[in-house]
Formats: sequence, C-alpha cells, structure tokens
Amino acid sequence: MRLLSGGLPESEREAKAMTFSKEIESTTNGSPLDPAASISGRRITRFPDISYVHNPVMEKEVTNLFSHVPSGVIVDATIGGAGHAIALLRSRPDIDLIGIDQDKEAIEAAKENLSDFEQRVTLVHERFDNIKKVVEGSGVAKISGALFDLGVSSYQLDNPLRGFSFRKNGPLDMRMNALSGENALDLVNERSEDEIGKILKDFGDERFHQKIARAIIAARPISETNELAEVISSVIPAHSKRFKGHPARRSFQAIRIAVNQELSVIEPALTQTIQLLKVGGRCGILSYHSGEDRIVKQTIREHAGLKRQNSRYLPEIDDEAEIQLLSRKGQQPNEEEVRSNSRASSARLRTFEKINEGKHG
Ligand SMILES: C[S@@+](CC[C@H](N)C(=O)[O-])C[C@H]1O[C@@H](n2cnc3c(N)ncnc32)[C@H](O)[C@@H]1O
Repeated sequence: MRLLSGGLPESEREAKAMTFSKEIESTTNGSPLDPAASISGRRITRFPDISYVHNPVMEKEVTNLFSHVPSGVIVDATIGGAGHAIALLRSRPDIDLIGIDQDKEAIEAAKENLSDFEQRVTLVHERFDNIKKVVEGSGVAKISGALFDLGVSSYQLDNPLRGFSFRKNGPLDMRMNALSGENALDLVNERSEDEIGKILKDFGDERFHQKIARAIIAARPISETNELAEVISSVIPAHSKRFKGHPARRSFQAIRIAVNQELSVIEPALTQTIQLLKVGGRCGILSYHSGEDRIVKQTIREHAGLKRQNSRYLPEIDDEAEIQLLSRKGQQPNEEEVRSNSRASSARLRTFEKINEGKHG
C-alpha cells in the first residue's frame, strides 16, 4: 500500500493546535474518560472503547454505480474507515483505489482495514478539494470514478476526544484535520456575536441563532462540549425542545461546518473531478443536509448543461455538456436501511457520468 503525504501537516511540531489548556474530568455516558487518553498537553489518541467503525451508507447503490465504469482508478475522496472502499475493491477486482481523508486517524484506520488490498490502494492525507493534485501526484492521468461521502464519520462523532458530540463531554475541537486550523474552542470564544449568530443561521438553519449567540458571548469562556450544549439548551424555548431532537444539534452541526469549511470545498472538488474523469467514468456524492445537497445539485446541474431553476438572468450554459445526471432528484436509502442505520436517514445520493471531454480535456 502506498501512503502519500498531501499538503496537510503531519508532525506534532506543525500541529500547534493539538494541545488543550484544560484537563477534562467529566464522564461519558457514566464511564470516566480513560486517564491514558487525557488531553492535557498531549496528542489526541484514539478513544480506547471506540474502534473505527462506520456503517457505509447506501453501500449497494454505491457499488452498483461503479459496476460498469471503465477499468482503472477510483478515488474515494472521503475514505473514513474504508467501508465503501472495501465494498468497491471487492466488487471490481480490475479497479485500484486512491483514498483521501483530511483526518490522520481515518487514514490510519483505512490502512488497517484495507490490508487485504495492499497492492491496489494509495492513501493520501489531504483535503479533497486538492483531488487533482492528489491524482496527478499519484501518477494517474484520468480516473474511472470518484465517491464523496460528505460530512463526519460515526467514529468522529462518537469519540468524545474529537469534540464533535453534544451527548458526550470532551474538549471543544470539531476539526476533522485535528492537526491544524481554527477549532471550535477558538470559534466559540473569539468570534463576535454577529459572526456566531450568522454561522448558526447559515449552516444550521437555527431559528434561535441570535439568542444562542448572545448566550454564548455571556457564558465565555466555554471549553467543553457539555458546557456549550447546556448554554444552547438554556435559551431554546421549551415548546421547541419537545419534538426536534437534541436542542443543541443544529448549533453543533453549524459550528462543525464552519470549523471545517465544509461547504466551500464541494464545488472546487466536483469541478476538478469532472475534469479528471474518463468518458464513461462516474461520480457519486452522498450528502446529509440541505446545505450540502444544494451545492452538489447546483454544481452538477451546471456541468450537465442544465440552467439553474428560477433564474432568467444567468448566462446560458454550453450545449456541449460534460456530464449527464443519472437521476434527477438523487436517490435516498430504503426504509430498512434507515431503520437499521439512523445516520442514513437524511442521506441523498446524487450521481453523474462523464459523457464528453469538454473544454478542459
Ligand atoms: C462519512 S465519513 C466517510 C465514511 C466512509 N465512506 C466509510 O465507508 O467508512 C467522511 C470522511 O470524510 C472525511 N472528510 C470530510 N470532509 C473532507 C474533506 N474536505 N477532505 C478530506 N476528507 C474529508 C472525514 O474526515 C471523514 O473521515
């Protein structure tokens, strides 16, 4: 197996943000955090009771999508625990795989989980909006397919030390690439009330964004996920708490999206992917909320030569469409999958095939 380092920091020296100022002493679901995994001034380690398990969403639909693409290389741009990747490699023995993830722990887990396919896999620690650089750096000119399974993995959500969870206490972090960049601690404690309010509104559709932003400013400093969840819950009116899941869910999602700049990377990644695909090559994108899906839909409709709906003023798009959408509205998981994997409930799979080389060749 080839392990290539992308442009992301690899060493602890580069990882200035890997230390935390405060020891977490609280509990997770009643069981104390393992002292060996404590976070005071240490590198994040894997939480001892959590193995890198992630149930791949719409696995059958994803393998079907790639069942007839030309032989060659498929890029799994969000390799995570390699659930989809294993299914793809099993179903197409003539395919090699490049796996990308911005989370170093995901790359390590994928390496372990893909040991049976060692000769066919290259793993790269990188952000997927650098997909073109990754593919070219691996010595590959054109690809047969690409998969984007957007958002966070169950492992990231369930590991309290990664600071994504409003249910399990941990340091406020939420970075997928835990080695660099602004974390949730900085965002929550240093951004202005207006900025925080806007993040909650734009990325979480949070109705009470102003109230929550004001409460966050008043409660600062906030250093743990439980504290933040309590501050948020305290200002959400009782009648709104009753039906809509955990009251902090939307705000946590919004902060996570802002910390990881999750929306701004989608369009450049898909545009590069379209250039990289061979004619007959295919791409699938699994998104989990409307903000992601809107960008995916707009980007691929434009490249498919379809005008944006409800706009008379946008320029006409080339007749020579580069791609063809494989379904108009995208696919959703069946009821059985939703029953057995709650993460699948909001999933939408949009797919397309490259039909024309277009201007970029
Ligand atoms: C939903 S999980 C993928 C799970 C995977 N399909 C599986 O079956 O195990 C999403 C993964 O994508 C990674 N990721 C999200 N955004 C990324 C980005 N912009 N660049 C690289 N990796 C990203 C996350 O770190 C996470 O490991």
